[in-house]
Amino acid sequence: MLAQLDELYAESLEKLKTAASTATLETWYKETLGRKGAVYLMTRQVGQLTPTERPIFGQQINKIKDELETAYQARLTAVKTTELDAQIAASAVDVTLPGRRPVRGGLHVITQTMREIYRIFGDMGFQVYRSPDVETDAYNFEMLNFPPHHPARDMQDSFYTTHPDVILRTHTSAGQIRAMRAYHPEPVRVILPGMCYRNEQITTRSSIQFTQVEGLAVGTNITFADLKGTLTEFARRLFGANRETRFRASYFPFTEPSAEMDVTCFLCEGEGCQVCKYTGWLEILGSGMVHPVVLRNGGYDPEQYTGFAFGLGPERITMLKYGINDIRLFWDNDLRFLQQF
Ligand code: PHE
Repeated sequence: MLAQLDELYAESLEKLKTAASTATLETWYKETLGRKGAVYLMTRQVGQLTPTERPIFGQQINKIKDELETAYQARLTAVKTTELDAQIAASAVDVTLPGRRPVRGGLHVITQTMREIYRIFGDMGFQVYRSPDVETDAYNFEMLNFPPHHPARDMQDSFYTTHPDVILRTHTSAGQIRAMRAYHPEPVRVILPGMCYRNEQITTRSSIQFTQVEGLAVGTNITFADLKGTLTEFARRLFGANRETRFRASYFPFTEPSAEMDVTCFLCEGEGCQVCKYTGWLEILGSGMVHPVVLRNGGYDPEQYTGFAFGLGPERITMLKYGINDIRLFWDNDLRFLQQF
């Protein structure tokens, strides 16, 4: 009987050594030390022994039980450690790999140009004044001295809404009246930036939407010399002292006299090329002295007050700066284009 016990012990220990997972270990435990396991079955045989043999057998079986229990715990700890190591190795993260960069947004190139323009005019004392993109015919045309059916309206073919008289502004000049009415009777020195819309046939030279930065100065003793000085200085600060500028007489219903300002062509440096239509010059803004009718519509007495206004195109300026040849690229929103800036 004692020999059987030794055999069981040796056999169980052997099995324990080969158990390589927590699952097999659990089975081993059930079969060996469990409530109906081999060791228990052995104790039931005690009845077949003589009274003198019984205590020796009892002692022996308890010893074996304890030793198997200890061996089991040791094996369990070892197997768990191995399993954990394997799991860690399998799900290993290579911390030396470079991380994935989040995609960073950036400012649209026109926003960048606009901000540069704000800074320059800000230094000259102009405040930013916002006015709506959706306008009435009155603000966009009539109060700017465009009579109904006047041919000058053809220069700015408009997008109409289903509401009669409500249009998308064709130029930021619509905000001139709003700014004057807001500032009256104080002097005005503002820039009005924003998107404008024209129902143009789209070509590389035009687009149905584009931004403008309008400028307006109203006060006493403002002359054409102030207009020229301000805009020449603006061009000098924006393009550097080397780029030349010139004024050409022009016509707008809301300014009198009117002038357009050109800068030397960025492509041919004044030699003459396709971009500048072989003139050597590129137009960047329209300007003029505020028309007396417009001053009056804004609330200012043209006998006492004078002013100048200008409207410049940030897309044009950006094209000049980077040598871009198609204005439609700005609002196509193709990231391959936009990410370059
Ligand atoms: N509003 C004119 C245009 O869009 C530009 C302009 C503004 C001209 C202010 C004179 C004074 O063409």
